[in-house]
Amino acid sequence: MRKKIVIGNWKMNLSLDSSQDLVFKIKSFLNDKTNADVAVCPPSIYLQAISTLIKGTKISLGAQNIHCKDEGAFTGEVSPKMLKDFETSMVIIGHSERREIFKETDELVNEKIKSALSHRLTPVFCVGENLETREQGKAEEWVKNQVINGLKGFSPEEIGKLIVAYEPIWAIGTGKVCGSDDANKVIQTIRAVIKELSSEEVASKIRILYGGSIKSSNFEEIIKFEDIDGGLVGGASLKADEFNKLIEIASNASTVAC
Ligand code: PGA
Repeated sequence: MRKKIVIGNWKMNLSLDSSQDLVFKIKSFLNDKTNADVAVCPPSIYLQAISTLIKGTKISLGAQNIHCKDEGAFTGEVSPKMLKDFETSMVIIGHSERREIFKETDELVNEKIKSALSHRLTPVFCVGENLETREQGKAEEWVKNQVINGLKGFSPEEIGKLIVAYEPIWAIGTGKVCGSDDANKVIQTIRAVIKELSSEEVASKIRILYGGSIKSSNFEEIIKFEDIDGGLVGGASLKADEFNKLIEIASNASTVAC
């Protein structure tokens, strides 16, 4: 049985004080009955502070991006090797904001996944279509190609180490959540592609999340589906009350599924 997971993507938000306060409130909310995995992805400059705060808790630490090389003349970049110094265990790769604003290609995403895996970081590999593609009825085809290109050259064992996040671009930060049936359909397609690229076993173990305007008011409807293993959450991960409600919803959904 796959355990549900809620990952907070803080993006370029919060201050050191407010991020520490947020983590403190998440920490206080978690208890032995929490039956969901939880991770936060702060801006890289806060990783060290947050890493200290979450030591010994159920909260995992993720980064929002990496460079694919270990070191070198890459001004402003952070390497996967550096992330390991702060017990970072996962990294978001291929987020649509990086693809659109920073022009990251499928090839670069593939390189970054390779690099993350070589440092034992769990890649949270993001895919998703824009509104035009969705309106043309080509969302599944688009996402399928992103998965195939992003995972080119990986063994089934390597693919099994990933988390995938389906984030329709038109639903990110817009308040427009993707219909849960539609999200489930694309996620099932992703699972089917992963099965083709690896094996039935890997496809049944890998966690595939939804992301895009998740809130406590719509999350239950989204993760009721067996194939949707949790959420990658932007805006709603910045408020402790709201994020804690999402954790509770995921925890209840994991318990029901068991
Ligand atoms: P959102 O962002 O929840 O604010 O829509 C999700 C994401 O970009 O990961």
